[in-house]
Amino acid sequence: MSAAGLPIIDLSAGPPAAAAARIDAALRDTGFYAVTGHGVPQAVTDAAFDASHRFFALAEATKRRWHVDLSGKQRGFDPIGWQALDPARPPDLKESFYLGVEAFAPNAWPDEALVPGFQAAMRAYQAAMDGLAKRLMGVYELALGLPAGHFDAFMRQPLCTTRLLHYPPQPREGEGGAAPGQIGCGAHTDWGALTLLLQDEAGGLQVQRRDGRWIDVPPVPGAFVVNVGDLMQRWTNDRWLSNPHRVVNRLSGRDRWSIAYFFDLDGDATIVPLAPCTSAANPPRYGPITPAAHLAEMYRRTTVAAG
Ligand code: OGA
Ligand code: NI
Repeated sequence: MSAAGLPIIDLSAGPPAAAAARIDAALRDTGFYAVTGHGVPQAVTDAAFDASHRFFALAEATKRRWHVDLSGKQRGFDPIGWQALDPARPPDLKESFYLGVEAFAPNAWPDEALVPGFQAAMRAYQAAMDGLAKRLMGVYELALGLPAGHFDAFMRQPLCTTRLLHYPPQPREGEGGAAPGQIGCGAHTDWGALTLLLQDEAGGLQVQRRDGRWIDVPPVPGAFVVNVGDLMQRWTNDRWLSNPHRVVNRLSGRDRWSIAYFFDLDGDATIVPLAPCTSAANPPRYGPITPAAHLAEMYRRTTVAAG
């Protein structure tokens, strides 16, 4: 393990082509980078974390009123034990709250009286992430040598999920309830196009390099961690990596808080390797897939049980 960190890309500095080249290098290497100069106000991220803290502070029975299984969709609260992002491991030591696009299914908003301001904070957060994700998709067009606006037809009404995450301090293995091999979230790849992760100062996020080594992804104040998901890896014909990552909240001795925003393209878009990423010597490695089908399959594989 090393704390080498990730390249930090400042979107407010230098020409877009320079940022595009650095992003291309990072996504070919680890599939991860940190972005600053993104223009998302700190008040928006502070308010989202604050509302998340107040929701998860509610009694377990109260939180279960918005249990994800009641929604029939990925909306609402999932308790510890609901998911194993690495299906070969015990369930993840995390609880979460899912928010989605309301055009597809209503959100499971907690009562305003119980968590005042939750809905307003999350709507503002989702809007900011939508803007940043689309801006980055524009930089990605440049990075891949695609004409400006090429991705627009794939993100008209994209599937986007905001996931509030809470990791309790993780006991040592065998001590106080952690099963052998049980960690904050098991090694997994993300499933969509790109993920924007806001993490607090606790640390504990790790990414696996091509050679199999795990490196720490230390928090960078004011930055989002950005990574490639499976759909983008397929789209780029493996030029960019959807790399395994995991959370081990064992060292901080405190709760870890994060918010993941999954930007997953139009559900019915046809994703086949992009022309600039293929050649006679490097033919397409993947057939067509739709985001909706891929995401549904991945939820099926990682959901443990009703609980
Ligand atoms: C995820 C994820 C990391 C974190 O939700 O896919 O990798 O720090 N989260 O919560
Ligand atoms: Ni992830």
